[in-house]
Amino acid sequence: MLIPPYKIKSVESIKIIPRAEREKKLREAGFNPFLLKARDVYIDLLTDSGTGAMSQEQWAGMMLGDESYAGAKSFERMKKSIKEIMGFDYILPTHQGRAAEHVLDAILVKNGGIVPGNKHFDTTKAHIEWAKGKTIDVTISEADNSSEYHPFKGNLDIKKLEKIIAENKKNISYLLITITCNSVGGQPVSLANIKAVSTLAKKNKLLLFFDAARYAENAYFIKTREKNCAQKTIKEIIKEMMGCVDGVLMSAKKDAIVNMGGFIAVRSKTLYQKLVPISILFEGFTSYGGMSGHDIEALAQGLYEGIEENYLAYRVGQVAYLGKELKKRGVPVIEPFGGHAVYIDAKKFLPRIPQEQFPGHSLCCEIYLEGGIRAVEIGTLLAGRDPETKRNIYPALELVRLTIPRRVYFQEHIDYVISVIEKVWQKRDKIKGLKLVYEPPILRHFQARLEPIKHH
Ligand SMILES: Cc1ncc(COP(=O)(O)O)c(C=O)c1O
Repeated sequence: MLIPPYKIKSVESIKIIPRAEREKKLREAGFNPFLLKARDVYIDLLTDSGTGAMSQEQWAGMMLGDESYAGAKSFERMKKSIKEIMGFDYILPTHQGRAAEHVLDAILVKNGGIVPGNKHFDTTKAHIEWAKGKTIDVTISEADNSSEYHPFKGNLDIKKLEKIIAENKKNISYLLITITCNSVGGQPVSLANIKAVSTLAKKNKLLLFFDAARYAENAYFIKTREKNCAQKTIKEIIKEMMGCVDGVLMSAKKDAIVNMGGFIAVRSKTLYQKLVPISILFEGFTSYGGMSGHDIEALAQGLYEGIEENYLAYRVGQVAYLGKELKKRGVPVIEPFGGHAVYIDAKKFLPRIPQEQFPGHSLCCEIYLEGGIRAVEIGTLLAGRDPETKRNIYPALELVRLTIPRRVYFQEHIDYVISVIEKVWQKRDKIKGLKLVYEPPILRHFQARLEPIKHH
């Protein structure tokens, strides 16, 4: 049984608009849930980023936010939290995760420099490329198999990584481990794998970083899935993980449970000093870096709340509950269930819709029409086109992501989601594919407009 470790103090009302209105709203939004108004959505499972509910301690902290330009008290608190939890001395706040990527890559990625890692998140990859570098994906091959069980599908393939290091030694900017690995379904990386990558990095004198957006969820998976880790506390596991790397890039909108914020934390004073000018130029002075004092205060508090074991057990348990109940009803889902979302395999859900008709995106639209739930496609619409041939890129997996915001929804909401998706599953043969009627040249999924394909 799931034991919620909190109760409600402040509520936000939500309502479900009638089916006929949902049809009208979706048509007006060009059959793209990104273009729906949030007020027309009943349960919003678009993302877990910045959508969590803050605690009374975080809200109280906001009143204490020190808005001084330089040397604010709130920043002292943020530094203390990061030092206590992660062990780093040098901290640069940034307005969100991608800003941390921008600052770090501006310094570390040289022309044509390579950043090997487990499947990089889109903004991470884009920032490395913006700095004229290149990413190489070294995730283990099990990550691509939607039905095979592996407890740590986010792991890096050590053999592959060794080979890449040997072949490109002079050209490697740094190594990056994304925990949990969002791009392969919120799948964790084991402590043993982190240690193996760290050994390799030290041997080759390479810097190693975490993209740590969901580091606490990753630590929870280590505790519950990895041999000899059950006796360790979450704090101890995090200390061990962090001891393996030179620094972290953090989008605090996830495991620090704030609506906005991020940071870079590093061990080396020299590296910190190199990062400071870029950070000041693009983010702001070193003690606020694009955040307000009150947001910094909420972040400092949220870091502690995000690593509480009973909170993590409920969070990861809630995601697994949704996954298990959908599976019981025959819905094809990716296993094991990730930390922040359940992924539906849309190719298996809608086998008659070819990939060029966006089965994942069509399924998202149908889920909205059926029950006012907003999900997101991770498939052909997101993948875009090959820059040279201009042809659609067809990814191996065509997915619908049901992303669970932190501390927002309760069992009844999740049960409602299950019942809606079950109804969609029962009428799957009637679902139609979509075609594009407007397509922006980059990041097309955010702004694209589509319409249903009529069958004659
Ligand atoms: C793994 C990972 N890294 C980086 C980011 C970027 O963070 P932000 O959205 O705060 O810029 C995200 C956001 O979803 C993410 O999931």
